[in-house]
Amino acid sequence: MKTTAIILAAGKGKRMGMDISKQYLILEGYPVLYYAVKAFEDSNVNNIILVVGQGEKEYCKETIVEPYGFKKVRTVIEGGKERYNSVYEGLRIIESFPIYTDIVLIHDGARPFVTKEIINKSIEEGKKYGACVTAVKAKDTVKLSDGNGFIKMTPDRSTVWQIQTPQTFSYNIIRKAYDRAIKEGEGNITDDAMVLEKYGRWNIKLLEGSYNNIKITTREDLIFGRAILAKEKKFEKNEKSC
Ligand code: CTP
Ligand code: MG
Repeated sequence: MKTTAIILAAGKGKRMGMDISKQYLILEGYPVLYYAVKAFEDSNVNNIILVVGQGEKEYCKETIVEPYGFKKVRTVIEGGKERYNSVYEGLRIIESFPIYTDIVLIHDGARPFVTKEIINKSIEEGKKYGACVTAVKAKDTVKLSDGNGFIKMTPDRSTVWQIQTPQTFSYNIIRKAYDRAIKEGEGNITDDAMVLEKYGRWNIKLLEGSYNNIKITTREDLIFGRAILAKEKKFEKNEKSC
């Protein structure tokens, strides 16, 4: 079974509010996007597609693909206006791809701390269940609001999960669901599983990931990111202090 990862890096990072998009910011010596691509390069995934912003293809090749010698990156393409448009571009390019894809993993390029273990487990579960998303159990109690600043209800915390990426699917299943969502002009798509929930009627497996697998979104996430990397370095050196 052939696996292809679509790594999304076409966002502008408005909430980060810096001159360059957050995926190209340097974190402890490497661009944020480098870490995610490296994890996929080191995993069992066969192919990587990088989806970047308009006019950024060459920049991405020059700053990420070439300097670090990533061999699994088959193509760098331009994304679309919203995240789901970028995903759809990635799904469509797979059709014209020389390598047949059974399983597709969709990952936010702004999540640098994904590991090859999580990726490999996602591939296994994706093959077994046809659809699986990486997630962590909510630590805080979550409330649903009534939309006017008041509490509507409290879901049982033991059933609440916070969703991350990679989100992994049988290619045909997610492609059909996305085709329908796009055709029907669905505009409120914040993750890939919800496309399948609405247009695919498929049981989607939750795969327990890691609290480290944060998305770099605002400036304080860079502080958390540095702390995570420092902790990993300590772990490599087998230091016991926390
Ligand atoms: N993304 C994308 N194409 C878009 C928008 C987002 O490929 N049109 C990617 C981002 O590059 C990121 C991931 O989707 O890796 C998650 O999106 P988000 O965290 O919202 O990133 P940005 O859209 O860049 O940030 P912001 O919403 O603050 O502008
Ligand atoms: Mg965004």
